[in-house]
Amino acid sequence: MADPDGPLKLSAEPLLSAAAIQERIEELAAQINADYAGAEEIVLLVVLKGAVVFAADLGRRLTMPLRWEFVRAKSYQGAQSTGHVDYRRITDPELQGRHVLVVEDILDTGRTTQKLRSRLEEENPASVALCTLLDKPGQRLVPAAAEYVGFTIGPKFVVGYGLDHDERYRELPAVYTLVG
Ligand code: XMP
Ligand code: MG
Repeated sequence: MADPDGPLKLSAEPLLSAAAIQERIEELAAQINADYAGAEEIVLLVVLKGAVVFAADLGRRLTMPLRWEFVRAKSYQGAQSTGHVDYRRITDPELQGRHVLVVEDILDTGRTTQKLRSRLEEENPASVALCTLLDKPGQRLVPAAAEYVGFTIGPKFVVGYGLDHDERYRELPAVYTLVG
């Protein structure tokens, strides 16, 4: 079957270098540590698979006790949003009365975040906040926003640092755009 995305390859230069990403994560962690100062414990809810690399770097710079939990949300096939969000709990966290910090790789149309937030609110957590590495505000189809944003970027499809194209490139330490 022909590949609907055609022959795509990585941009020669990264959109976000590994050093720029690490520097920004330091800043995000400092902000989160200040905002949650005194919190007994927070639930770091990592959205698989894309946020796993970001969460590993961010979580190790947070100073409050963390409980690591995982959900799976999937809305893309190749470089196209399917519009349908497949959501699955991977671990079984107790969220009632807890402070939940959701860690996402990227906010795009907003569908995943909207669905996740409404699911989480049903469990009566003490608070829910979202920390996303990347935000594409120009792509929103439904209202969604993150409390913590690493980088605001344009509409181009990006890979690396956890983000994939058909499950490839997650291990790259920098973020690249795909070029046709
Ligand atoms: P929505 O549209 O629900 O999208 O806000 C969030 C999810 O879509 C995926 N996504 C991307 N994945 N490069 C990727 O590797 C991209 O440029 C991109 N844009 C959206 C991603 O899985 C995210 O959780
Ligand atoms: Mg993906």
